[in-house]
Amino acid sequence: MLLGVNIDHIAVLREARQIADPDPLDALSIVNRAGADQITIHLREDRRHIRDNDAENIVRLSMLPINLECATAPEIINIVTDLKPHRATIVPEKREEVTTEGGLAVTGEQKALRKAIDKFHNNEIEVSLFIDPTQESIEAAQELGAEWIEFHTGKYANIYAMLYGNLSHTPYKIPELDLPRATLKEMLRNELKTLQNLSHDAVGMGLRVAAGHGLNYHNVKEIVEIETIEELNIGQCIIARSVYTGLEQAILDMRALMLR
Ligand code: PXP
Repeated sequence: MLLGVNIDHIAVLREARQIADPDPLDALSIVNRAGADQITIHLREDRRHIRDNDAENIVRLSMLPINLECATAPEIINIVTDLKPHRATIVPEKREEVTTEGGLAVTGEQKALRKAIDKFHNNEIEVSLFIDPTQESIEAAQELGAEWIEFHTGKYANIYAMLYGNLSHTPYKIPELDLPRATLKEMLRNELKTLQNLSHDAVGMGLRVAAGHGLNYHNVKEIVEIETIEELNIGQCIIARSVYTGLEQAILDMRALMLR
């Protein structure tokens, strides 16, 4: 199973002080040495973490493929097209959110998505769409010609955290906290079943399937068991652990959990 390490969170720390350290560029060789398969970064419209020159240097210097997340704003699409990363993952963006809260509204945004996807394809950049796990989203992704979909696993991670305590993942949105355990267990089973069935369907439709958001050292094992999910993109928990263990060890720990 492939691992993309999202290194935005290194830039979040840098931006807290608005100085030069820590530089996400320094992570490239460590992520590579630790055996990850891809570096993921998100160039947000508000540039709250990764900046244009980070993205430029990372794409230019990385030995691993770069998965560049972006919204459909024309300015950003143009930058990504010029940078020519290996893959562009189109994500929804809201200025007020702390992190990407859900998948793309694929069916409601067909025109903007089609324009962005065509532009990426014309520049030999493969495309992934970050979507909620729904049948209509995978059908729309296939219709739009994306090579990949990435399932937003935030709901799964939230249910997991509510069921097993907060562990290392603080849910970014806390729905009804005091649901009975049996209900939460049922919700978790259903969400996993949905992810499993839809990734199976998506692969049958010729799509490649990734997943990410809120995955951590505790909740990843059930996701790893879904064989049709080919890749995980994980950021927050790896960078959080790296504060104590170093980045290489934090990635090795995650890699070990992802062995099938
Ligand atoms: N995949 C996508 C498309 C994302 O936007 C994010 C969040 O930056 C991730 C994966 C990684 O999520 P997390 O930081 O919660 O591991």
